Amino acid sequence: MEKTFDFSNAHKDLIARDAERVLGWRYAPGIVFESGRGVLLSDVDGNDYYDLTAGMMCLALGHSHPELTKVMREQAGRFVHESSWYSNPHLIAFAELIASTLPAGLDVVNFTVTGSEANEVAMRMALAATGRHDIVSVIRGLHGGSLAVEAVTTIGGARRRNLGPLMAPANAPAIYAPFCYRCPINLAYPACDVACLEASVELIDHVSSGEAAAVMAETMLVAGGMVVPPAAWLPRLKRLAHQLGAFLVLDEAQLAPARTGKLWAFEHYDTPPDILTFAKGMSAGLAICGMVTSREIAEAARGKAGTPWAGTYSGDPLPAAVALKQLEIVLRDKLAARAELLGAHLRARLEALCQAYEPLGEARGVGLYQMLDVVADKASRRPDLAMAERIRYNAALEGVILICVKNFLRICPALIVTEAEIDDFCGRLEVAIKRALDGYPKEVDFRASSSLALGEDTAAE
Ligand SMILES: Cc1ncc(COP(=O)(O)O)c(C=O)c1O
Repeated sequence: MEKTFDFSNAHKDLIARDAERVLGWRYAPGIVFESGRGVLLSDVDGNDYYDLTAGMMCLALGHSHPELTKVMREQAGRFVHESSWYSNPHLIAFAELIASTLPAGLDVVNFTVTGSEANEVAMRMALAATGRHDIVSVIRGLHGGSLAVEAVTTIGGARRRNLGPLMAPANAPAIYAPFCYRCPINLAYPACDVACLEASVELIDHVSSGEAAAVMAETMLVAGGMVVPPAAWLPRLKRLAHQLGAFLVLDEAQLAPARTGKLWAFEHYDTPPDILTFAKGMSAGLAICGMVTSREIAEAARGKAGTPWAGTYSGDPLPAAVALKQLEIVLRDKLAARAELLGAHLRARLEALCQAYEPLGEARGVGLYQMLDVVADKASRRPDLAMAERIRYNAALEGVILICVKNFLRICPALIVTEAEIDDFCGRLEVAIKRALDGYPKEVDFRASSSLALGEDTAAE
């Protein structure tokens, strides 16, 4: 029997008013949330849901963490905003703490408000310090939605449509993603010896000016399909960047702090970048992001290409105080080790689901950032976007909120999640998968939500 959301009239009214006046991206059925605690969210009717997106991948400590709430209250009574041409003690301490977690050469922090802005500042730094203009990026990467970073975002779909000349022309998405599940050059790791990178060298030569300022990559490509590079790839990418005379820029918006089992994901590869960007998880959800580089690069860039950057809200005292406290807790409570441990448990549960259900092609990811690759069948590995949406919708009915982009269902709970909570939401996810396989929901038009609204291939439907 069709299971439906049992929303109150007041809730339905809010959903209708939201649709009427707020121009936003909405997943069906547009649940209106009112509060959150830990890994749980509550809607306006008081129904609880597991928040497996940790907000927008920002809440390392979950919702309403008491220590962060205390800092917020205290700081709100002092001052929340100031001119970004001045500093405050929280911002200084946050920059110092970030630098203390990084190797020498990643010494100075330029703060921004969004991850897109952080990546644009990284691009400005690279252009200013090298005097070159090309940004060479990895196909399947996502670096944000403002215009310069949209030009180095290549996850497909309609997001670049109609932008025409607004897309920055000086970019070359020319590096194959090391996507072993669907290898772009049809080889198999490790026998391939990451031949995708060798193939990319020729591509770069063909499509760039040959004068790259930066090679830009997510340390693990999340939105493009949770591509976790094999061990050899990142060190070789860095070598390639330097051979090109370019800086390696790594974007850790989705990964830091601690989600992958290391504070910074590049630690898995022992490959620190020349320029590093952080956002989402480092912000504690309060919009403080930034870029880290060496004093030398920062000074070479100073006064050129708008660096150092100082937007209206960058480095405000309220977000700085909260993000500082969050990072202190992540370090104090050893949440990287916890993410590794509980990530292994989560992964085992997801792999068991993959074994049991044909449309779950593979579970991929590291630590507490995992993803299910939803396919028409295991043999063809053909992406099944509609089935992924169906599972996401049924999961919401079972009290589990997931993010679904294309055929990729992401699972990234706050790092404070417990083993019992993982078991509970995986059980609910299994119910959702079974209902999706039975063809439910039958009366919801998925074209109104997620990737399907963008008119993409709906694979198995
Ligand atoms: C890897 C990566 N970089 C940058 C961004 C952009 O961050 P923001 O939305 O804060 O501009 C995103 C957003 O999803 C992201 O996933």
